[in-house]
Amino acid sequence: MADRVYLFDTTLRDGEQSPGCSMTVPEKMRLAAKLVELGVDILEAGFPIASDGDYEAVDAISREFSWVQVAALARANTPDIERAAAALKFAKRPRIHTFIATSDIHLKYKLKKSQQQVLDEAVAAVTLARSYADDVEFSAEDATRTDWDYLEEICRAVVAAGARTVNLPDTVGYSIPEEYGALIGRMARALGDSAIVSVHCHDDLGLAVANSLAAVQAGARQIECTINGIGERAGNAALEEIVMAFKTRPDKLPYETKIVTEHIYSVSQLLAQTITFGPQPNKAIVGENAFAHEAGIHQDGYLKERTTYEIIDPHLVGVPASKLVLGKHSGRHALHQRAEDLGFDLNKEELNALYETFTTLADRKKGFRNEEIVALIHQVTGQTAAAAAAND
Ligand code: KIV
Ligand code: ZN
Repeated sequence: MADRVYLFDTTLRDGEQSPGCSMTVPEKMRLAAKLVELGVDILEAGFPIASDGDYEAVDAISREFSWVQVAALARANTPDIERAAAALKFAKRPRIHTFIATSDIHLKYKLKKSQQQVLDEAVAAVTLARSYADDVEFSAEDATRTDWDYLEEICRAVVAAGARTVNLPDTVGYSIPEEYGALIGRMARALGDSAIVSVHCHDDLGLAVANSLAAVQAGARQIECTINGIGERAGNAALEEIVMAFKTRPDKLPYETKIVTEHIYSVSQLLAQTITFGPQPNKAIVGENAFAHEAGIHQDGYLKERTTYEIIDPHLVGVPASKLVLGKHSGRHALHQRAEDLGFDLNKEELNALYETFTTLADRKKGFRNEEIVALIHQVTGQTAAAAAAND
């Protein structure tokens, strides 16, 4: 039996707070509907003390999607927690997510507090949050640069105060998988069944997903992530990459989520249309080129058997179809296939002539649109698609 891993989506909070990603309340509502359809377990809808918009979004989303666990972020202080609790007051399944930094560097320069003060504030915050909600999550910000003995002490203390989930973020994306796995393993052993250990990884070294997977293998059972990997600086761990790693490699990653993978692409597209940028073309799973093949050897293998060069069926993530890109690396097989798809029935000589003209031009071009391929076919054969069809 695969172990269940809970997905905590923070697209509307950590994602939204990054440059170019701010969203209005109606935009958050539209995305929340898609995230719910996608099957996220917990939806972090905002940081209510930060703005009226965040407050309204938490309030509106938690009323509209009453069957979903909706989280609101709060620093470990009374005004923040009271504001989060107010935003969640009509929620059926509210979660208050409170946090404070625990690393020496944050204590010394940012908070100017001692370890004992931070521990006391963390416990007080969780105690106060529990007076408003049964479901309280505590995050030890910058956990990966925190002294491990102190971190364990604080984890035990917040659980004793009532936290049900303890999140250990790699806030600055500093950790590497082996090290993060060891940290999570130690905290998961210390907490046993008394709380769920959660992870939250940033991508400053491009390791957010690898670190999240290592953490799950070490005992974490909640992953915080975002669609398209948006988030502070280089972003957060990408939900779609985590889910598809579980789906594609159950032999090594026997974990289950509730995600309906067929909705991944449409959520990614809606997010891209809502904020100011989409995923980079070569982004795993949802990028424009994630299922595109240009090299002749790849195209030939793919046309013979898709799985030679594709480990994921694009339909499984809602991508309409794989694309064979016609460019200078393409081969005869892909060109023939495209001509057929465009309605032309070429004989061997016509295909040879087309291929020769195509390769000469392809050296100078970045790729061919369908209209350009049609024009080339007309040039070398004089054939039109309508005429080809009439000859059938
Ligand atoms: O990166 C981080 O540490 C955070 C916390 C608020 C969970 O976003
Ligand atoms: Zn974060």
